[in-house]
Amino acid sequence: GARKDFQSSKQRLLVVANRLPVAAVKNGDSWQLEMSAGGLVSALLGVTEFDTRWIGWAGINVPDESGQKTLTEALAAKNCIPVFIEEEIAHQYYNGYCNNTLWPLFHYLGLPQEDHLATTRNFKSQFEAYTKANKCFADVVSKHYEEGDAVWCHDYHLMFLPKYLKERNSDMKVGWFLHTPFPSSEIHRMLPSRSELLKSVLSADLVGFHTYDYARHFVSACTRILGLEGTPEGVEDQGKLTRVAVFPVGIDPDRFIQALELPQVKDIVKELKQRFTGYKVLLGVDRLDMIKGIPQKILAFEKFLEENPDWRHKVVLLQIAVPTRTHVLKYKQLTSQVHEIVGRINGRFGSFSSVPIHHLDCTLDFHTLCAIYAITDVALVTSLRDGMNLVSYEFVACQAANKGVLILSEFAGAAQSLGAGAILVNPWNVAEVASSISYALNMSADEREKRHHHNFLHVTTHTSQGWAETFVSELNETIVEAQLRSRQ
Ligand code: G6P
Repeated sequence: GARKDFQSSKQRLLVVANRLPVAAVKNGDSWQLEMSAGGLVSALLGVTEFDTRWIGWAGINVPDESGQKTLTEALAAKNCIPVFIEEEIAHQYYNGYCNNTLWPLFHYLGLPQEDHLATTRNFKSQFEAYTKANKCFADVVSKHYEEGDAVWCHDYHLMFLPKYLKERNSDMKVGWFLHTPFPSSEIHRMLPSRSELLKSVLSADLVGFHTYDYARHFVSACTRILGLEGTPEGVEDQGKLTRVAVFPVGIDPDRFIQALELPQVKDIVKELKQRFTGYKVLLGVDRLDMIKGIPQKILAFEKFLEENPDWRHKVVLLQIAVPTRTHVLKYKQLTSQVHEIVGRINGRFGSFSSVPIHHLDCTLDFHTLCAIYAITDVALVTSLRDGMNLVSYEFVACQAANKGVLILSEFAGAAQSLGAGAILVNPWNVAEVASSISYALNMSADEREKRHHHNFLHVTTHTSQGWAETFVSELNETIVEAQLRSRQ
């Protein structure tokens, strides 16, 4: 039957994530597919070793059946399978429970508390929408599942999915991976549905995180909140083991390295170099999200300009702020806050001929992004918390010629892999970030070379391809071990 459609030599993998690698935009009667933004997609693009099907939310409300049909066909060409969720449910699930509750909580920003009573009511309906949306995903996965497939669920949007999938088919190989931090159990405890979510995740066979700290926090949440036993292998519940392990993600570095060889990218590099002749270029590339610490970064740059008058008009900060989750109030407020700070600093330090901060609210096309990475002297990744942060990896991949400096938050997962090559900072400490900018700009060529070498080696040897292969082979082994145990 359906199996004939696939290349049989490769293992079949169903990757289930809220966000598909492509986003659909309606274009008259047809659909245009554009690449999605975000770290999860950036990582998954490098996964080519499997016979992969992507299952995810279409990211757009398509109420009519004929629209759903044409979109399903358009996505099929990209090996993508859409999950359609009714508009109001999708809104409460995505904007509400996922991005106004779980996302801030997992990044240590607490729970929403604007109006306590309204929040409590919202919690209930948003939580219900979350369960319903997760069921929609489970329906689509079950429909496309074939015996032997590995099913890999991703991120905080889909914490109920392992439970729903195992309820339908206890033989299904189910892995779950979190791309955000898993916070300290003291933070996770605050969540009203803390236990249900943990229990569901534990129905997966393998649970993966980017760093040891996140895995440790998860295991201790299971021991403290659920009273289960944590072992070096994972979490045990009445003889059933859920394996918990660490799989730091990477990027597909060749995509970036090869792009820099293209004539059209070389042209953009040349143009940008001309544009910024006489200036050192500092760069920030972030989704416009409160976890990214954009206001703090810009304030640190202001402090640097204040303290280093000799550098004024010799350095620019390019801040690319990719719009994201624009229907969530906090994201709207952040946009205005950032614009206000940028305006104030440009007013204070700009002149008729030069502006210190170039702030763009946009998504850059891939070639321009590579070119900007390549001409940058200092990249500033100053997230307040970040699961991994692949912008830091992408920057390093594009710096073979320039050997620029990476200033990196100690609260990003990437600090644990690029820590020796980057300058690590506490993003809340504006004075420290300001002095790191000064240190980076004055760094000797020799030190830059050494630091870059360390990072480049890591980025080119810890790829997203390797990450996915390790996770899936560990998932396969976990199943075999469980079968052996149950026979004993
Ligand atoms: C983070 C999350 C991803 C998400 C991405 C973009 O990287 O871990 O799951 O896809 O942000 O956010 P969005 O809400 O646009 O999918």
